[in-house]
Amino acid sequence: MRVTIVGSGFVGATTAMRVVQKGLADDVVMVDIVPDLPQGLALDMRESAPIEGFEPNVRGTNDYADTAGSDLVVITAGLPRQPGMSRMDLLGKNAGIIRDVVGKMTEHSPNAILIVVTNPLDEMTYLTSEVSGFPKQRVMGMAGVLDSSRLRYFIAEELGVSPSRVEAITLGSHGDAMVPLPRQATVEGKPLTELVDEQTLERLYQRTRDAGAEIVALLKKGSAYYAPSAAIAQMVNAIAGDTKEILPVCAWCTGQYGIKDVYVGVPARLGRAGVEEIVELDLNDDERAALRQAAEGIRAKCADLAKLA
Ligand code: NAI
Ligand code: 2OP
Repeated sequence: MRVTIVGSGFVGATTAMRVVQKGLADDVVMVDIVPDLPQGLALDMRESAPIEGFEPNVRGTNDYADTAGSDLVVITAGLPRQPGMSRMDLLGKNAGIIRDVVGKMTEHSPNAILIVVTNPLDEMTYLTSEVSGFPKQRVMGMAGVLDSSRLRYFIAEELGVSPSRVEAITLGSHGDAMVPLPRQATVEGKPLTELVDEQTLERLYQRTRDAGAEIVALLKKGSAYYAPSAAIAQMVNAIAGDTKEILPVCAWCTGQYGIKDVYVGVPARLGRAGVEEIVELDLNDDERAALRQAAEGIRAKCADLAKLA
């Protein structure tokens, strides 16, 4: 399994490190537009292999020919947010970068599965699907695993329990239209709704919606990468290992939840074919309406994107 990571910035580099350290691929290729940057980072990672005890299967390049035959490609190239910026402020600039990298990448790896990370996530996933022309099943975006992990952590922190004992999932878009599902959340097997009041729930959800901005405000320069790279690695593991795990990902809906022909965050079964199934949870009317509203918001932004082209 060859995994290429496009963009060797904070998210790309930490993702490469996690993938190679966990041994998720036989070959990890890092690409960037900046000369020598991916080569330097990959060499630095290989030099840690004797201490950490992993196979040093990572290399860097500025030439897409070196990525030929990739099975899985993670796209992190693009500008991150700065304080005061919304993910949407990145639309125009990152659309240009996505067009550039997806065109070059797919020329050399026509059978790859693509995981988009660049923001604004839902719209860049749609654009990647358009530019690549790949079957929708092979193009998806990462956001839900990250948002769900943040929510799980905030719940654990609130209740003073280990994060591993908290289950929760968020759907919808990576942004204000995130859809939390209180009825699906559990802490040590007990329903979350029995453990905290309505006001606390809403505070935890709002913190999750704002979690990316909270990190941006603290870092002052750039955005989060430890939790994002962990989320990407979980998706890489599910696809490379053909685990059939159900994870919340930005996937193309074809009628599920009453949503058609749009990318939005939904639970999906991941395996070697990419998105192998969109799983329909038993949502109530409000949850279903919120998910549809998120999907319509993304559809409208994708139409704006077409005007920018
Ligand atoms: P960064 O600035 O550290 O890295 C971006 C890298 O992309 C840089 O090394 C840059 O040289 C490279 N790049 C720019 N144009 C390129 C091109 N045409 N070809 C190849 N490489 C190119 O940014 P960071 O923190 O790694 O974030 C990357 C992207 O991921 C941002 O758009 C950010 O908003 C997004 N992101 C999305 C998350 C999600 O949940 N979906 C979570 C975290 C970040
Ligand atoms: C995040 O949620 C900026 O989308 C990125 O951290």
